[in-house]
Amino acid sequence: MKPETNGSKMPSILVTGGAGYVGSHTVLTLLERQGTDIDIVVVDNLSNAYRAQGQKQPEPIRIIEELTDKTIHFYDVDIRDKDGLSKIFEHHDIESVIHFAALKAVGESVQKPLEYYQANITGTCTLLEVMRNFGVYKLVYSSSCTVYGEPENLPINEGHPTGRGLTSPYGKSKYFCEEIMKDVCRSDPKWMIVSLRYFNPVGAHRSGRIGEDPSGIPNNLMPYISQVAVGRLKELQVFGNDYATVDGTGVRDYIHVQDLAEGHVKAVKLFHQPGFGGFHAVNLGTGTGYSVLQMIAAFEQVSGRQIPYKIVGRREGDIAENYADVSLSQRLLGWRATRTLEDMCADTWRWQHNNPNGFKK
Ligand code: UD1
Repeated sequence: MKPETNGSKMPSILVTGGAGYVGSHTVLTLLERQGTDIDIVVVDNLSNAYRAQGQKQPEPIRIIEELTDKTIHFYDVDIRDKDGLSKIFEHHDIESVIHFAALKAVGESVQKPLEYYQANITGTCTLLEVMRNFGVYKLVYSSSCTVYGEPENLPINEGHPTGRGLTSPYGKSKYFCEEIMKDVCRSDPKWMIVSLRYFNPVGAHRSGRIGEDPSGIPNNLMPYISQVAVGRLKELQVFGNDYATVDGTGVRDYIHVQDLAEGHVKAVKLFHQPGFGGFHAVNLGTGTGYSVLQMIAAFEQVSGRQIPYKIVGRREGDIAENYADVSLSQRLLGWRATRTLEDMCADTWRWQHNNPNGFKK
């Protein structure tokens, strides 16, 4: 591993997977919100991020530097590469880590369980080990509401059981990592870990310059809708209209990625609170659910485009309804989502419309 930029001994936040969807929006928000007294170091193996030929930085990082006029220290390193990761810790004065780097396609994880456990669990363990070796004990973890499995009650709060009835290696890997981090916190009181359980991240930065850029056919609803709207895909398939929900289609708690990014900034701030320590899991959602048909209608309204769709059978592993109890995030982080469904659709549309092929020109 060769450092790609000059190192610095400024206090730094390390962001793993910082070139990905939620990672890049968080990096941008950190740079917008923090003063000039903090450096951002990104490590990403580019498994799901695009770097244009001849460029040192992946596109999202290059664009964020342009938008903020600030420098990001970027390393093309896999977090399982212990030596590579250790060199970054030698090179920078890392105060805390925000850990996004992971594989995240639910269906693919069923086909490739070992790859998922390798990337997500071995990756997290290697990162935790290197952090400990360098005396860095502050971590924000990118978790998912998927750890709750089928909800026993709604809205779901953080006391809901986790790990029950999980069907995909992806979902299990998020649950296992949380369990590992709880043990790590029990082993040494110096650790402070905030595991943020995201509901359904959608939307893009207001600039329309960065956004979600899934490789291949999108698995998730919002990028699928926006690719239909822009003409890249013909028609949306709605997976089931016989659920016990408002209109029979699945209901989810969609949250704007910028709200999510701000939640991470608040989580980092917790580390400076006197007496704070140990493992904390916190939901990041809006507390409101919308159905698939409501999402289609909202997107049509904002974009002025029609979204052709067809009702098909249920998707295996899907649940009827899911939305967050957001009281802990308000209490602990002093954070709540402020952006509306219209904002989510408008910002997704701006990104998709300006960049029909994502980051690839
Ligand atoms: C999915 C993952 C979840 C992950 C989250 C990340 C599954 C089963 N779950 O959640 O583990 O943390 O993404 O954002 O994949 N839908 C359609 N047509 C489509 C796509 C989706 O009707 O082409 C429906 C689904 O049935 C669901 C809703 O839209 O009711 C949302 O689906 P999706 O965006 O894939 O998110 P989740 O399944 O909630």
